[in-house]
Amino acid sequence: MSRCLITGGAGFIGCNLTRRLLQDGHSVRVLDDLSTGRPENLADVESDVELIVGDICDGATCQRAAAGTDVVFHIAARASVPRSIEHPFEANEVNVTGTLNILLAARDAGVPKVVYSASSSAYGDTPTLPKREDMKPTPKSPYAVSKLAGEQYCSAFACVYGMQTISLRYFNVFGPRQDPHSAYAAVIPAFVTRMVRNESPVIFGDGEQSRDFCYIDNVVSANINAWQADGLSGEAVNIGCGERTTLNEIVTAINEALGTSIAATHEPPRAGDVRDSLADIEAARRIIGYEPTIRFPEGLARSIEWYRRQAEVSV
Ligand SMILES: NC(=O)c1ccc[n+]([C@@H]2O[C@H](COP(=O)([O-])OP(=O)(O)OC[C@H]3O[C@@H](n4cnc5c(N)ncnc54)[C@H](O)[C@@H]3O)[C@@H](O)[C@H]2O)c1
Repeated sequence: MSRCLITGGAGFIGCNLTRRLLQDGHSVRVLDDLSTGRPENLADVESDVELIVGDICDGATCQRAAAGTDVVFHIAARASVPRSIEHPFEANEVNVTGTLNILLAARDAGVPKVVYSASSSAYGDTPTLPKREDMKPTPKSPYAVSKLAGEQYCSAFACVYGMQTISLRYFNVFGPRQDPHSAYAAVIPAFVTRMVRNESPVIFGDGEQSRDFCYIDNVVSANINAWQADGLSGEAVNIGCGERTTLNEIVTAINEALGTSIAATHEPPRAGDVRDSLADIEAARRIIGYEPTIRFPEGLARSIEWYRRQAEVSV
């Protein structure tokens, strides 16, 4: 049994990883300021989790959270491109200073491994697909800059302090417990929750923009694999499925699953959004033995089912 710290453990990705680690018999401490995460995300495992409600921008809180742990999954962030455009300083504080605080706390507590939730937004709008880790990063938003800076801190800490760190560059993660209600909601929860209520999904742009959508279980497994891999030295690896889907195709797939024919409403494209995204996942296969096992159609079906049940519960 290991003692795990998950920052951002009350958020979408963090709460799913928390459940998996508990199922695997580990103990979990969560550090979360509940800014976008919700205690309800941990309600069913509440008694098994040590929740520290606190801010990663506060060094002393990070030190307290890291003490006595064997691994840190650093997931907490202000995780939105549009929000970072409105509040760039906040994105920098939480995603850069907060990451530095967590790395320092891990170093001081002698935690051997830090697994960092990075972002494919680091690549920017490069026309070459698929995106490979040896391509030059060209972040297009304050969010992307801040997430890339976090990666570079992880890599520098591996270099100078000999800590084992790795950055998992997630592509578009989706699945149960992703917040559909935020003004910055990701597309799949936003589309599904509207469409189960017979409302039109809102697409920014023509809908032909594409993403490598990756079901949450694949991302959870990537975190576990990364933790268990030997000899990590600050690498950054893509975590996606290696397949891309357009927003128009998602609307069609949701309509098929629901037996509806709801048309999307189109609004102007948003600043900072990239046009196309697709992961090359060979490095993750090689370095951490990552293999996505839930493909997009199966992940979408599971997500629709989950959001449908939520809609029934809230009626
Ligand atoms: N969801 C995706 O598609 C995606 C893609 C690429 C990268 N990521 C990265 O994955 C991570 C998790 O994303 P998510 O989708 O679960 O988002 P989320 O907003 O659901 O989770 C982020 C969590 O961090 C917490 N948090 C924010 N600021 C904090 C602070 N100052 N101190 C402590 N806790 C704080 C929030 O309360 C929340 O629980 C983020 O680092 C994000 O950048 C996500």
